Amino acid sequence: MGKKIALITGISGQDGAYLANFLLKKNYTIIGTDRRSARSDNWRLIKLNIQNKVIIEDLDVTEINNLIRIFQKYKINEVYNLAAQSFVKSSFENPIQTSIVNAISPLTFLEIIRNQKRKIKFYQASTSEMFGKHKTKKQNETTNFYPRSPYGTSKTFAHYSVQNYREAYKMFAVSGILFNHESPLRGEEFITRKISIGLTNIISGKQNKIKLGNIYAKRDWGFAGDYVEAMWKMLQNKYPKDYVIATGENHSVKEFINEATKILNLKTRWMGKGLQEKLINLETKKIIIEIDKKYFRPTDVESLKGDYSKAKRELKWRPKTNFKSLVKMMIKADLKEN
Ligand code: NAP
Ligand code: GDD
Repeated sequence: MGKKIALITGISGQDGAYLANFLLKKNYTIIGTDRRSARSDNWRLIKLNIQNKVIIEDLDVTEINNLIRIFQKYKINEVYNLAAQSFVKSSFENPIQTSIVNAISPLTFLEIIRNQKRKIKFYQASTSEMFGKHKTKKQNETTNFYPRSPYGTSKTFAHYSVQNYREAYKMFAVSGILFNHESPLRGEEFITRKISIGLTNIISGKQNKIKLGNIYAKRDWGFAGDYVEAMWKMLQNKYPKDYVIATGENHSVKEFINEATKILNLKTRWMGKGLQEKLINLETKKIIIEIDKKYFRPTDVESLKGDYSKAKRELKWRPKTNFKSLVKMMIKADLKEN
């Protein structure tokens, strides 16, 4: 049998880069889609030194004809649909575009794959954001969804579409319900990277302070490099099933900041409450973190903590990187850049 061909949409993103790197080691041929393939700064692929090892196709996932064409051009075995408008805050400002990309494109993929003569496996990037305002201590595959943003509702539509196509047409289509996962390749708009870049910039004098929103939100943060393995395992499974992928631990944004300042040996103190809360650098007496209304969302997800026991039992998957190691990895990488 020849090499397996994997199509990764959103290869220019954090997960796309780690997944491509992982699948190359498994001897796959990788077709990655990038809606702006002419750009020379596919920085994540460059960082992983794999920019010349993958085939890049210019493709916006909202362009139906281009999607059809890619299945005519390559004998694809596995599709990893990672492309999305993935920033929750921006989904409140662009709800329609977010839904076209995050909900309608996965449905389009399912329709196209359903009409192929060959069997093609499909992975959809579902999210813990679908749990939103849940009432549970830990969330698993049976927890009800209560999305709190246009991002969350769009991903819930895609999730149910995958389930429906699996049941109606016996397709090998699955969703990984992944909790937050971060890395040195994380986009700078997301909180963990905003903090790791911000603090290291403050130390090198490139930035004075960081402005943040809800620092009491709690997330179950894992390492993206660990999570892409779970995506692959789901497509190698005997039966098509959905899985929660998480660490089982959560921390507030404030705890992330405290861990980061500890690693950087910064002597700091929190002062004030609510919008007046600030983090002071005790050596320089300067404010390094303050709260800004601008960064709050109309509705937020207060707390997420995943129960990944089904993945552990059936896929033999478990996270390898804990919270402290993750913060250290991100801080060290940004210190090196500074
Ligand atoms: P990311 O870094 O934001 O990457 C998203 C990718 O999608 C980028 O390559 C982006 O391309 C591409 N994209 C956006 N709109 C597109 C369009 N119309 N056509 C083609 N490509 C488009 O996100 P990530 O963290 O890697 O996440 C990967 C997937 O997992 C996303 O679907 C996300 O919603 C989901 N997810 C992520 C997490 C997490 O914590 N990271 C957790 C659960 C689920 P550009 O570079 O051109 O913008
Ligand atoms: N980004 C950001 N910027 N978030 C902030 C800020 C800020 O200045 N201040 C506080 N937060 C809070 C947000 O309100 C949210 O509660 C939490 O930090 C995490 O925000 P993000 O890092 O933007 O991630 P997210 O949890 O909204 O979404 C990420 O994880 C989802 C999985 O649960 C994204 O990767 C999604 O694509 C993914 O599905």
